Amino acid sequence: MNKKIVIAIDGFSSCGKSSFAKLIAQKLGYLYIDSGAMYRAVTLGFIQKSLIVYGEIKKDGLPQKIQQFDVGFSYNSSKKEYETTLNGVVVEEQIRTIGVANYVSIVSAIPEVRELMVELQRKLGKDKGIVMDGRDIGTVVFPNAELKIFMTADSKIRADRRTKELMLKGQIANFAEILANIEERDRLDQAREVSPLRKADDAIVLDNSHMTINEQMAWVEKLIEERIM
Ligand code: DC
Repeated sequence: MNKKIVIAIDGFSSCGKSSFAKLIAQKLGYLYIDSGAMYRAVTLGFIQKSLIVYGEIKKDGLPQKIQQFDVGFSYNSSKKEYETTLNGVVVEEQIRTIGVANYVSIVSAIPEVRELMVELQRKLGKDKGIVMDGRDIGTVVFPNAELKIFMTADSKIRADRRTKELMLKGQIANFAEILANIEERDRLDQAREVSPLRKADDAIVLDNSHMTINEQMAWVEKLIEERIM
């Protein structure tokens, strides 16, 4: 019998972490958790409760207020996927809006928010058999994960992919603006004081600038095999 492992995938934004992680989980029959979605859900809670005023977090009574946000996942059997919930309500669409994207960096930098999310993430991974993607999964959440991958890709290639993705959806997309946004997010992710984005010493780098998803899967399958035997 193969043993169940924990797979931690970290890396820069718009590297295709989620699609890659989802596919690995599907292949192995593992649970897939998008930790970014959890930070997005808390951010939505902050917005709903008017805890962000003119771009600043209201600090009074914050630890107690954060406890009110119950982030979870519910299984959607027609989509065969888990969807993010906030206080029992599916918020998968709301958390992907610009309103949430604009504030998720400041909310995810609050130590109390991170503490709560990390605790929940560890609970979800206690029986192993999980693929989780994010920024601090291999460094903070699961420092003992059997497989840690750090994803990166040239920022221009990421911006180009994102531009095409938006255009396909019929949305206006400006390459220069998208590139600036990606590079700014890279900077913020690495510069933040709490749990900055950093490659764990034992993480294996995957630069997918010039790789298809099939090539990435072939690359990871070998690594998984070595670890589950
Ligand atoms: O992966 P994403 O773009 O959906 O993540 C949304 C935000 O949450 C992004 O600003 C980085 C932050 N995040 C984090 O701080 N720690 C994680 N483990 C995952 C995401």
